[in-house]
Amino acid sequence: TSVLVLNGPNLGRLGSREPDVYGALDHAGLTLAITEWAAALGLSAEVRQSDDEAELVHWLHEAVDAQRDVVLNPAAFTHYSYALRDAAAQVTTSGLRLIEVHLTNPATRERFRHNSVIGGVATGTVAGFGTDSYRLALSALAQA
Ligand code: DQA
Repeated sequence: TSVLVLNGPNLGRLGSREPDVYGALDHAGLTLAITEWAAALGLSAEVRQSDDEAELVHWLHEAVDAQRDVVLNPAAFTHYSYALRDAAAQVTTSGLRLIEVHLTNPATRERFRHNSVIGGVATGTVAGFGTDSYRLALSALAQA
């Protein structure tokens, strides 16, 4: 099974972006880790990152058309992008699974991070385990 792993805005800056909050691993390192975790779980993962809301929306449409499950870290779009929410809803209403992931636990952070407009249309959410959040999401997808 081929899973699409989509990372939203500023996640391409991992490693140099607030490393005390988001960790020292850069996006290339995260991509490698995700690829290896997926393989160990009998999945294959394709990792993409974009700062562009429209591109993320198109990638979610692509997942629907290609019938692929999705792991999505919507980053800041989590908190306000109804366009991303509507695209994510098309994934789950078409019978595919979409796991929302976060490196940090947004519930413990600033108030504006407490609301996710994605959570209500996701299959489930994994947050707060650093890069392990992705491994846990993949493992949930591998279970079913
Ligand atoms: C994040 C949490 C968001 O609030 C933030 O805007 C991010 C990363 C996380 O992975 O912890 O960019 O999605």
